[in-house]
Formats: sequence, structure tokens, C-alpha cells
Amino acid sequence: MRPETPLFIYEIRAPGPTGLWELECLPPSVCLGPLLAGYLLGLHVEADFAFLFFDRRVDLDGLLASHPDLSLQEVHEMRYDQWQDGAWSPPISLGPLLVLPCHDGEAPPEPSLPRPLGALPPLLIDPGLAFGFGGHPTTRACLEFLLRLYLPGTTSAPAPETALDLGCGTGILALAAARLGAREVLGLDHSHLAAEQAARNVALNSLSEPIAILRAMAQDYATFPARLVMANIPLFVLDDLIRLDAFLDRDYLVISGLLPEEGEAFLSRLSRRTPHRILDSRRSDRWMSYLIEPR
Ligand SMILES: C[S@@+](CC[C@H](N)C(=O)[O-])C[C@H]1O[C@@H](n2cnc3c(N)ncnc32)[C@H](O)[C@@H]1O
Repeated sequence: MRPETPLFIYEIRAPGPTGLWELECLPPSVCLGPLLAGYLLGLHVEADFAFLFFDRRVDLDGLLASHPDLSLQEVHEMRYDQWQDGAWSPPISLGPLLVLPCHDGEAPPEPSLPRPLGALPPLLIDPGLAFGFGGHPTTRACLEFLLRLYLPGTTSAPAPETALDLGCGTGILALAAARLGAREVLGLDHSHLAAEQAARNVALNSLSEPIAILRAMAQDYATFPARLVMANIPLFVLDDLIRLDAFLDRDYLVISGLLPEEGEAFLSRLSRRTPHRILDSRRSDRWMSYLIEPR
């Protein structure tokens, strides 16, 4: 998508988390009709709200009339580079990892700066309309934790060979784990838009051998066997996950995307479920991120 592409983002609210199931599960041409579906750039459904991304102003009266429980909260009008604010900034360089945000499958030229010894091939991330080009502090903290787990000599235990990325967005964490050496990675997201974008990014980086991407609920795959779980995901989802013993049976948890008070609540609930060690933590202006070793 070009930086100047106009976006018209229709924010639809439902009275409860199941109110949007038709939008989530049926093809857009069925819910919206073929004309509107043709203008739809992407659809993101989360709990009780949805963002419908169009390339022009549209009339959703038909949809709202046939679903009186849904309401149009707001129409956000912006350019694509405002939605993906920062995705045209310089590439993100973290030790041997270089994340190159790219657009429409086109990679920017690699920076001419010298790369460190042992530098890995760059990770190409086309964010499309999904979350996670690497610049957000919650994503960046997770990338830093992954470096700590996978770089030789930074932990005493062997690096996890299997990883699960719950709420993968663009797939950036799954891709980084695979680039750093994980041999089997499952990434999933409940958003069509995100799962499709993550699958594109896996192909763009030729990493379909170690990585599989699914469109699925984190809650349904919380017990999938993997030594490392990465979850940059809302607290109410984490609350569901930590109730399950098998979710906690891991070598490492990378948890991110929590406000400071949510972070404290999460850690205290985790303490009630399992003894653990916090190996590392980051606090940005708004967000907490943790690298945890359950024991
Ligand atoms: C903050 S983004 C993180 C994206 C990426 N992992 C990163 O670190 O940049 C959270 C992602 O979780 C997804 N998500 C939220 N709730 C979910 C659930 N219950 N199951 C699966 N995915 C979920 C959202 O669609 C969104 O793509």
C-alpha cells in the first residue's frame, strides 16, 4: 500500500463479544454485498468492535439496518502512513537482527551501515494493515527478549527450538524467532487481516519451512506444545490462557502489551498459578513487557 493511500476506517461496535460473528466468519461479499466488499481493504474484528478499512467513503446503512444491535461508533479518515505511523522510519537494527519494513512486497535498500559480525539476513516485514512492523515498544521489547534467548552465551539453558506466537499480527515475532534459530514456529491471530499478512510475510522471507500461520483464537491453541510462548496480547486473553496448566508448561514466556497496572495484576495471578522467575522486563511510556521463566 502506498503511504498516501487514503483509508476510511469504520469502527463498528457490538453489544457483546459474539455480536460480530457474522462479520468475522462470513465472506465480506455476503455481509456487505459484492459492491462494498470490492472497496474493502481489510477487516479487523476484536472482542466487541470491528474496524472495516475501505479505500473510499461508503454507506454502511444496509449492514446496520440488517443488524440493529451493531452501531457505527466513528469513521476515522487518514492516510496509510498515518495508520502505520513510523513504518517509513529507518530500519530497526537490534544486534544481528535487522528489520526492514517494506511495502507492497518491495524492500527498501539495505542501509549502507556496516552490520555486526554474525548478522542475519534482514527480516522483511510488510505490515499491510496489521499490527507489528517492529517500531512499537511492545514489539521491540519482545524482539530484545528473543535476542537474549537465542544469542549464544546469554542464557544458561539451550535456546527454545519450538515457539508459539499468540496474536502474531504481521508475524514479526514468529519470523524473528525462526530467523534466530527456532526450528518449528506456529503463529496465529484471530484477525483475518493479520493472519493473511503474517502468511505473506512468511513467504516474503522464505521461512515457510519452519513457520506455520493460522487464523485462530489464542485460547484454542494455548496448550499447543512449544518451549517458548510469545504473547503480545490483551490482558483478558492472557487471563484465559494462564488458567490452563499446559499453557504454563514452557521454558519461557514472552509477555507484552500490558499497561503497568495490568502487568502487576498479571504477575500476581501468575504467582497464584505457578512459581516463576522474571528474567527481564521493560517499561516504555505506557507498556510493560516481561521475559518469564515458569518453574
Ligand atoms: C499488539 S498486537 C501484537 C502483534 C505482534 N505479535 C507484535 O508483537 O507486534 C496483538 C495481536 O493479537 C491479536 N489478538 C487479540 N486477541 C486475540 C485472540 N484472542 N486470539 C488471537 N489473536 C488475538 C490481534 O488481532 C493483534 O494482531
